Amino acid sequence: MIHLPVMVEEAIEYLNVQKGKWYVDCTLGAGGHSLEILKRGGKVLGIDQDEEVLDLAKKSLSDYHKRIVFEKRNFIEVGEVIKKHKIKKVFGALYDLGLSSYQIEKDARGFSFQREGPLDMRMDLSKTTKCADIINRGREEELARILKEYGEERMSRRIAREIVKNRPIRTTTGLASLVARAIGKRGKIHPATRTFQALRIAVNDELSALTESLDSIFPHLASYGRIVVISFHSLEDRIVKRKFKQWQKEEVFKILTKKPLRPTPEEIEENPRARSAKFRGGEKV
Ligand SMILES: C[S@@+](CC[C@H](N)C(=O)[O-])C[C@H]1O[C@@H](n2cnc3c(N)ncnc32)[C@H](O)[C@@H]1O
Repeated sequence: MIHLPVMVEEAIEYLNVQKGKWYVDCTLGAGGHSLEILKRGGKVLGIDQDEEVLDLAKKSLSDYHKRIVFEKRNFIEVGEVIKKHKIKKVFGALYDLGLSSYQIEKDARGFSFQREGPLDMRMDLSKTTKCADIINRGREEELARILKEYGEERMSRRIAREIVKNRPIRTTTGLASLVARAIGKRGKIHPATRTFQALRIAVNDELSALTESLDSIFPHLASYGRIVVISFHSLEDRIVKRKFKQWQKEEVFKILTKKPLRPTPEEIEENPRARSAKFRGGEKV
């Protein structure tokens, strides 16, 4: 399935794209946002830690090869990558967090509880720790901590206990049904939603990567350079909100979105993946 970029019009408006200036797309994915930057004459440094996804973007953006460079990296290293390409100042940085449709829908990557696959969940396939290592080898208390901290899961202890009792667990669907049996159905979301979110965050160390990346990119932003972050759960949004506030207090940054922007109902109808998106933007001063 093609990945539909989320809040793309808002991203382009807030990035204030100008011809000939550099923009860093820290989460290149299928390249939907970068394509719009390139169409407006911007130059793009496109980063993604997932080699398979990066290859797709290289193909889909090949018409613009003169104005885009690609890097298979974790965005934690964004500062280094900017230096490597001898880019003096960037005029905008975009983070569209989470997964691309390609990753979610490829069973073998093990991200989705609705598709049978191995317990993997690595965005960077060169990393050694997979979800299965945490599930089948981690201590019960450590599992419970991960589920509570990264999934805000109230039943973390009960789930951790059931996991340990039923090890080894081999598949995504096996884990999802175990969680469903352990805690039953609650509300509208699938009972395994929070467990899967927590494990993915742990496998990819997503929260510290975001915090460190924001600090790493800031010195490379030009005056009036913009940062836009689209996040999909409250833990990420909290990190962005706090960082933006801290910079504003230090009088080096101006928050442009007092409250996070949300996708329009029309966009959510067309692209349900957008429904939990929160969009924050700001400018270096
Ligand atoms: C939601 S998708 C981006 C979609 C893209 N904006 C588009 O419109 O096609 C997020 C992408 O960011 C990548 N990603 C997530 N965390 C990353 C990190 N720490 N470093 C590098 N890439 C990351 C994922 O591999 C995924 O391809």
